[in-house]
Amino acid sequence: MSDAQNETVSSREIRLASRPQGRPADDNFALATAQVGPPGEGELLVKNSLISVEPYMRGRMNEGKSYVPPFEIGQPLSGAAVGTVVASRAAEIPAGTTVLHDRGWREYALVPAKYARVVDVTQVPPETYLGALGTTGFTAWVGLRIVGEVKSGEALFVSAAAGAVGSMAVQLAKRRGVRVIGSASTPEKVRYLREELGADAAFDYHDGAAKRLRELAPDGIDVYFDNVGGEQLEAAIGATRTFARVVMCGAISRYNDAEPPPGPRNLFLAIGRRLRLQGFIVSDHLARFGEFAREVAPLIAAGQLKAPTTFVDGVENAPRALMQLLQPNANVGKIVVRV
Ligand SMILES: NC(=O)c1ccc[n+]([C@@H]2O[C@H](COP(=O)([O-])OP(=O)(O)OC[C@H]3O[C@@H](n4cnc5c(N)ncnc54)[C@H](OP(=O)(O)O)[C@@H]3O)[C@@H](O)[C@H]2O)c1
Repeated sequence: MSDAQNETVSSREIRLASRPQGRPADDNFALATAQVGPPGEGELLVKNSLISVEPYMRGRMNEGKSYVPPFEIGQPLSGAAVGTVVASRAAEIPAGTTVLHDRGWREYALVPAKYARVVDVTQVPPETYLGALGTTGFTAWVGLRIVGEVKSGEALFVSAAAGAVGSMAVQLAKRRGVRVIGSASTPEKVRYLREELGADAAFDYHDGAAKRLRELAPDGIDVYFDNVGGEQLEAAIGATRTFARVVMCGAISRYNDAEPPPGPRNLFLAIGRRLRLQGFIVSDHLARFGEFAREVAPLIAAGQLKAPTTFVDGVENAPRALMQLLQPNANVGKIVVRV
């Protein structure tokens, strides 16, 4: 065994200090230093370079059962990360390899090799594996293809359209010949949606989603890709055509609510219009990930799909990045913390 394989390193990490009530604050997180390593048999010591912060992590800060277990108080948070193997005791993944794994929120991680995925960073930049070519892009693909069954010639409305999932949903739908309307929080994002991502129309939701959808889709929408819930969900239901589909991907406008508000007041429209409202969790569809990657990776490598990314520097700033993400007027594209 080389010296590197015996190595123990100091690693800064973010732990859950307490569970938030409503909006998370600085004191819900703690920056701590841990000694990490050396790797045991079958393990890798990985120096993280990029870590992902994502809206579902807000749910994991709460107590109680969900589709993923809650974070534990006093323990580091976790989530997707990309890093370089600095010491390996797994022959199949030698030191120097770039891997994707789920022990983010820290500078160094001990990762069982069987839970690490080797990624090729020669064709696309490493952050792509946390965004456009990772769970984010796959979520957009599943939502459009499997859940929304969106077809050429149809009209699609995407909320949080300049965000990570939204920016991919807009572009993938455009490639399928769909008419795309996106919403976002600022005039700059609205312009970005139209001029950079190719949306046919876009609006600032502060101008009133119901009114803007009546203007921009006078014949109605066939599919709504819901990232935010709340008022925009109600507006989208109001704008549906008969047999429209509502892809319930996320409800970010509600994640910090201590008490959930009443549901959309116009839900009864689902009956007469024969709507299908379907929630989904991307991990249920992993069997289709290869199909997604084979379609999307070449498009990203060729620059035919944009993978917008907002970088935040320093593991100590990861909590701020998550808090920022949960508010309007946040990131463009995928938010990634450079460690
Ligand atoms: N079902 C699944 O398996 C799955 C998987 C991944 C993600 N998701 C969900 O998909 C959604 C998007 O996730 P993402 O990772 O791509 O995040 P994101 O869209 O990059 O970031 C969140 C965006 O939401 C918008 N936002 C924040 N607070 C808002 C509010 N109160 N009202 C309206 N918009 C608000 C902000 O955009 P503006 O600046 O435009 O307001 C922000 O940029 C989230 O709801 C997430 O939970 C679901």
